Amino acid sequence: MNEVRHDIIIIGAGGAGLRAAMAVVETNPDLSVGLVSKVYPMRSHTVAAEGGMAAVIKPNDDRQHHIYDTISGSDWLADQDAVELFVDEAPRELIQLEHWGCPWSREDSGQVAVRPFGGMQIERTWYAADKTGFHVLHTLFQTSLQFSQIRRYDEFFVTKLLVADGRCQGCVALELRTGELHVLRAAAVIVCTGGFGRIFPFTTNGAIKTGDGLALAYRAGAALEDMEFVQYHPTGLPGTGILITEASRGEGGILLNTEGRRYLQDYDLGAPLDIHDPRHPQNRSMELGPRDRLSQAFMHEQAAGRTFQGKFGDYVELDVRHLGEERIESRIPFVRELALNYAGIDPIVEPIPVRPVVHYTMGGIDTDVHGATALPGLYAAGECACVSINGANRLGSNSLTELVVFGARAGRHAAAAAAGLELGGGAEIDRQAAAERERLAAWRARPTVDDRVASIRDDMTTAMEAGAGIFRDEASLAACCGTLRGLRARADRVHLHDDSPVYNTELVSALELDGMIDVAEAVAHAARQRTESRGSHQRTDFAARDDANFLTHSLAYRTDDGPRIAYKDVVITHWPPAARVYGAANDADGQA
Ligand code: FUM
Repeated sequence: MNEVRHDIIIIGAGGAGLRAAMAVVETNPDLSVGLVSKVYPMRSHTVAAEGGMAAVIKPNDDRQHHIYDTISGSDWLADQDAVELFVDEAPRELIQLEHWGCPWSREDSGQVAVRPFGGMQIERTWYAADKTGFHVLHTLFQTSLQFSQIRRYDEFFVTKLLVADGRCQGCVALELRTGELHVLRAAAVIVCTGGFGRIFPFTTNGAIKTGDGLALAYRAGAALEDMEFVQYHPTGLPGTGILITEASRGEGGILLNTEGRRYLQDYDLGAPLDIHDPRHPQNRSMELGPRDRLSQAFMHEQAAGRTFQGKFGDYVELDVRHLGEERIESRIPFVRELALNYAGIDPIVEPIPVRPVVHYTMGGIDTDVHGATALPGLYAAGECACVSINGANRLGSNSLTELVVFGARAGRHAAAAAAGLELGGGAEIDRQAAAERERLAAWRARPTVDDRVASIRDDMTTAMEAGAGIFRDEASLAACCGTLRGLRARADRVHLHDDSPVYNTELVSALELDGMIDVAEAVAHAARQRTESRGSHQRTDFAARDDANFLTHSLAYRTDDGPRIAYKDVVITHWPPAARVYGAANDADGQA
């Protein structure tokens, strides 16, 4: 097997991976980085982010407000030391993006513009129209090209982490173009592979977000933290699940049920202001409530028969007509483009049909504030990691910021730790690499069975939505856990029909599915054992938040019989648990 050596291997070349790679070489220009991705970097899912990035920049805002919005949004499950670091480092990282060429939208004065976003008391979301992810990823990617120390491995799929002498020392990767396996050795590995929304059937997530990095770390012995918390974004296009950005509500869009009512006024999210009142939408009520509450409100409206019925399921209407063509075209042009192309609706003259859609996974690889896991040499950053700043529900527009803040932190720490470290464990690494080659060869030689990777995957996504969707209970979760065990057995037998070495997409799908089932089991088991409701985790059989027993992070460890769930305390620094209050009752000091 071909073997190459770097100081640091980074798996995933989206926002977190690129930022981490540059932080490594900024920290120590003598280090070399292997940047491995199953896709070309500009196809990473960061590109799809729309609405913006949160950071305190305006004089009417301060760190206290951003910290409080993040913590209350998380339903008090975020680690407050991590949130403080995050908020303090965010402005510097966004200004760094500016210096690297990110074309932030501007006010007439030339200053960076910010817009309101859901769950915030004060507008602090920087944006580049409504294509922020595209511009941020482009900025990071083009800047990374100037560093000769970063060697890219585009279209390489990592199948295994290599662990010897008690530390992670590299990985085995499949080169998709040739079908060859490579051993990539390093003193540290940073996993930046994104989230796992694709374990659900209806999601804003690109097809690549299959949780591969979580599965790799889980199999290497790392814990997966807070996996039960899955965020539904309230406004996806029915049918495709394409995101209609929260920026459309930040700019003043409203949500209407079949009675033409702004139904969110019935869900403790404040009172409506007239849409032509200059304080609208700056009053941050109603449509600018947090995502978990808005998605749950949709479900209640649906149960009450006040949602529209369409060929792709029920929906409500997002109305932006009152903003007028000029504002729509300048602030949310992509919303118009998406609505026109994927729903045949022009939002200038018609409301857009929308429904909740799986968007973001708060859970991830358990790390400290440096991105380090409990396994020496293994780091994680971005959506695949759980630091944890997002707790039970992420605040809108914190995630792009999380990529750069914690990508940079992980890169810096890994660089300092890796400098001068001798690679050991040669014989053990060779043994593991050979075993991995045999595992994949044996897989490809499996006897024919009457089953397909695609069928198993469909059954998995159906089980997740039915059992672990917006509302869950013991019966639904028990059924989901049982189904997933059965799917694990099917996946372990499934036969591959395509034996080509070149761009074998069936093999890639099978490898993804293999990891997705592990990740899905961690979600379902953690959800089953959390017998309370908090943020995005709503148990109809345990409707209240239970701080006495569950002000804790869940930790899932892999065993051959399914996940073992343990717990660790949430870090509280200065903000003791309180009720989450939105709308007018939430005063500007950040206290309910
Ligand atoms: O609606 C949005 O633009 C999503 C942003 C986010 O997830 O932070």
